[in-house]
Amino acid sequence: MSNNRVSRRQFLGYTLTGVGGFMAAGMLMPMVRFAVDPLLQEKAGGDFILTDQKVADLSEEPVRVDFAFEQVDAWYTSEVTSSAWVYKEGDKLIALSPVCKHLGCTVNWGGDPEHPTQFFCPCHAGRYEKNGKNIAGTPPLGPLDEFAIEDRDGLVALGAVKANTLVK
Ligand code: FES
Repeated sequence: MSNNRVSRRQFLGYTLTGVGGFMAAGMLMPMVRFAVDPLLQEKAGGDFILTDQKVADLSEEPVRVDFAFEQVDAWYTSEVTSSAWVYKEGDKLIALSPVCKHLGCTVNWGGDPEHPTQFFCPCHAGRYEKNGKNIAGTPPLGPLDEFAIEDRDGLVALGAVKANTLVK
């Protein structure tokens, strides 16, 4: 006969430890799942947003292209609207961010009658050349950002905003 008999005290200790552990896991699992849930969601639609703008209708004159997309912020999803200034340079598609690099107002193409071939920021009279280069002597200290852009079956698709690559 074995001498490894479990005493009543040990049995009670093992049982309580097991039940306690099971209950703790039951309480912690939903919390852990809740915390990591956003990381487990699949991202749909890729990184580009398809717009209604036909590539064939673009010219060398920048046009404002409005678009909307769903923004997921942790557990909250909201629809965000934005816009880009899009034009062609030869066969190349160019999309510039309308966000002024001074204090974030929205720039317009040809908004200043005295400079019809520049972007103009109405907030503090900031100006930019067509490639987004900030005009010296006006408030902005950097060029307009650029969107990644693609032709998707004849429609403009816009990707992530990146630093301006057109200004040398
Ligand atoms: S915000 Fe555009 S010039 Fe100040």
